[in-house]
Amino acid sequence: MSLSLRPLHPLFAAEASGIDLARPLPPEQIAAVVAALDRHAVLVFRGQPLDQEQQVAMAKQFGPLNPGLKKIGGRVERMRDAALIDISNLDPEGRPLPRDNKKIISGLANQLWHSDSSFQAPAVSYSMLSAVTLPSWGGQTEYADLRAAWDALPLRLQRQVKGLEAEHFALHSRMTLLGDDDYSAEQLATLPAVVWPLHRIHPGSGRDVLFAGIHARRILGMGVAEGKMLLLDLLEHATQPQFRYRHEWQVGDLVIWDNRSTLHRGRAYDLSEPRDLRRTTNDEVPLPVRAVA
Ligand code: OGA
Ligand code: MN
Repeated sequence: MSLSLRPLHPLFAAEASGIDLARPLPPEQIAAVVAALDRHAVLVFRGQPLDQEQQVAMAKQFGPLNPGLKKIGGRVERMRDAALIDISNLDPEGRPLPRDNKKIISGLANQLWHSDSSFQAPAVSYSMLSAVTLPSWGGQTEYADLRAAWDALPLRLQRQVKGLEAEHFALHSRMTLLGDDDYSAEQLATLPAVVWPLHRIHPGSGRDVLFAGIHARRILGMGVAEGKMLLLDLLEHATQPQFRYRHEWQVGDLVIWDNRSTLHRGRAYDLSEPRDLRRTTNDEVPLPVRAVA
């Protein structure tokens, strides 16, 4: 079988089928997935429930795995692999955590538009999120196409943004929700802020990207307030409804997205109901196999 694609939105996102993610992928299937991500940015695989080991093995074929915020620690671990990120509201016994728990706050911060791990360098590429248990309502994940957002940016803003750089900080989203936060100096020092240009070229597709998102906390060389307003304006622009795809989860879905060309956010749900998803994220590496165009 080979990879089949069915577009889910006029601009980006496609449903992918025809390959079995639980088995090692031959080089031509990896190349086909990479090429599909370069084009569609978000791929939805339905009906492919993977156990933890299978998801890790599948993801590793696309580059080394990056544990992201797990590096700052402080959590009781539910996942068997250090690179598997627990996107749930559950304690180790599978019960919903109290609403003031740090993990719940992190989950709420995931409801702000972001690109995974944009607060670290070197960059990451793909995230892969699988659905294990879903709440009775809400809890969708929305994506925004940052290539379309760039293309639609007025020329005046394109000119202004080219050459500007933003500082991205790991805990900015949490601090946006909580104000002052109680992370230790050691935790704060684990993930120092990094700088990314606001305008980037996506390596796989050559397309221009407006690299916005909640991890960006200031613009270099600009007053704090003016920089924040520009970041908020760009984020508002990039996440307009016409640039969005909303994924309605089913158990057994696995969604792969490219963090270099999209933003995403979770949507609200009843925090007293279990919601259990698992994520991996890849370091950006040149992949050995590229599809011939
Ligand atoms: C993530 C994330 C959103 C969601 O896993 O990186 O942001 O819907 N998830 O849980
Ligand atoms: Mn995320």
